[in-house]
Amino acid sequence: MAVVALAGGLGAPGVTTAAMALLMTWPLAEGRRVILAEADPDGGAILPGALQGTLGNSHGLRNLAIAARQGQLAESFWRQLVDVTDAETRDRLVLPGLYDPAHASAMEPVWQPLARLFAGIEEHGHDVLVDLGRRGAFGSSAVLAQRADVVLLVARSTLRGLQSAQVRLEALRESVGGSVELGMLLVDEGPFSKEEVRKTLGIPVTAVLPWQPKEARVLSDGAEQPRRFESGSLMRSARSAAVRVQELMAVRRSRLAPPPPGSAEGRAVSHAR
Ligand SMILES: Nc1ncnc2c1ncn2[C@@H]1O[C@H](COP(=O)(O)OP(=O)(O)O)[C@@H](O)[C@H]1O
Ligand SMILES: [Mg+2]
Repeated sequence: MAVVALAGGLGAPGVTTAAMALLMTWPLAEGRRVILAEADPDGGAILPGALQGTLGNSHGLRNLAIAARQGQLAESFWRQLVDVTDAETRDRLVLPGLYDPAHASAMEPVWQPLARLFAGIEEHGHDVLVDLGRRGAFGSSAVLAQRADVVLLVARSTLRGLQSAQVRLEALRESVGGSVELGMLLVDEGPFSKEEVRKTLGIPVTAVLPWQPKEARVLSDGAEQPRRFESGSLMRSARSAAVRVQELMAVRRSRLAPPPPGSAEGRAVSHAR
């Protein structure tokens, strides 16, 4: 269906945790898959975090940089994906990020072809979530945000979080232009409400994730699951967030779709040709 990029402001607002929560709860029609690509130039956190180092550094972006130099980006991409769910269907996959941020410069020529690969991945029946971290929506990896369908800014609902988000939002609006749908994912640490955020930042809050440190640590650090984790408030909210994000994608599609030929706009378009 689409490419959804997630980016955050200063501090660690919870981009990776939110991306993992969306990965686990993304509604999937039969035969479809969702991939979380950890494209944070500051380094990935899922292999040592959620996966507790069990895979070492065998998979991920670093290998893609090497493969791209040999003209084998697309082939290598599919081999780098790891399953994070123990499901036999292998339908929720992660492309692990850089284990050493020093490798980020080697990624510079790769972001562009990678963004192109993501944009065309619909043909394979996949959706892609892209974790851009704090600064990945800018600089050489900005192309990943520019070619996404939706960019979600993740921010905590604190003064510090929102101030940083405001600055990022202005920069994002300039960087991605009008064809990308911008949304906001609020991590409800408090004290500001969804409505206050909308008024101050001038953007509706797409979804809210509750402040749940114990549940969040399962996704960020591979902590043991508390009782009823799957039906707990974080995963429940993530499920609704995933649906809201998919609605945002539908809005974008209808905005960009050519008007039907019989409609007034459609007639105007055909006269103009
Ligand atoms: N919704 C949440 N509730 C409570 N703690 C959270 C939440 N989301 C993230 N955290 C915690 O915040 C810290 C940073 O999260 P992380 O997702 O790694 O941030 P980022 O990717 O933005 O750097 C982690 O300790 C994580 O457990
Ligand atoms: Mg992160």
